[in-house]
Amino acid sequence: MADTDETTPADVLVFGSLNVDLVCRVASIARPGETVLAPRYEQLFGGKGANQAVAAARMIGGGNRVAMVGAVGDDVLGQAVADNLRGEGIDVGGLQTAPERAGCAFISIDAAGENAITVASGANGCVTAAALALGRLGPQSILVLQMEIPLVECVAAARAARDAGARTVVNLAPVPPDLDEAGMLQLMELADVLVVNESELRSAATICAVESGNASERARTLSERLDLAVIATRGSRGLIIADRNRPVRSIPAMSVEIVDTTGAGDTFVGVFAVGLSEGRAPDDAAERAAVAASLACRKLGAQSAMPTAAEVERALAELKP
Ligand code: RIB
Repeated sequence: MADTDETTPADVLVFGSLNVDLVCRVASIARPGETVLAPRYEQLFGGKGANQAVAAARMIGGGNRVAMVGAVGDDVLGQAVADNLRGEGIDVGGLQTAPERAGCAFISIDAAGENAITVASGANGCVTAAALALGRLGPQSILVLQMEIPLVECVAAARAARDAGARTVVNLAPVPPDLDEAGMLQLMELADVLVVNESELRSAATICAVESGNASERARTLSERLDLAVIATRGSRGLIIADRNRPVRSIPAMSVEIVDTTGAGDTFVGVFAVGLSEGRAPDDAAERAAVAASLACRKLGAQSAMPTAAEVERALAELKP
């Protein structure tokens, strides 16, 4: 069991959601009013927060530590979710148990590996950032946030990180439907890096009244406006990094045979956070994370498809012989 004393700061601390994923492979994703059949479903561990923690734990080395703070249900699935993270070597001493059912995601994967996801938040809606004020964050820590838990708790967590001298990576996924410019600015003021996919980039730009331009221009303008680095992941087209007045940089994706893209973005975020915690520059950390994210598309599921550090190193060596 990897739980530790609450006064030991983690190298990477993920504050966020934990789910059980019920996954169906379908020929095409059901449209409103339509019923589609799948031969069976798989029950897998997921949740954007837990996925990011697992991706980080599989990459981290040198005695460094990944911790997860979130809320699990007081049911059998909630216990299984916590046990799964413990098995990955993640410190789960900050997990809370809520009088709710476990978070559960209902996922359809189509023939091209694209997905549609509905999340029943359950216990995730009850999490509080209080556990972060107890010494789990220090100046060397990277706090990782996503948006499947209440925004107000994410802001409180980011504030705790800033107070501890830690850095914060915000993955704006999914974009909260009621997020307005004031809420966005409040969170981004406390963040160091914003990670979004293409549709989240469009939403973030709209919220911040950055309307015109292509993805690179939007990312650069957002980066300047929010005064942080913006990374936009673009699936098989790789990613772009905009960091205030530096030229926007693109990093290509590694070519793989795609089975399921679920959790690829989470893999990117977790591995990127490990890179930052190792002292890598954001571009270098993003390059490694992009390779890990591509590798995570080769199998069904999120955590079940995430690569080990050895697999990422091997792929990097093949790309740069
Ligand atoms: O990003 C993928 C994740 O989104 C899934 O594991 C599912 O639980 C949802 O949270």
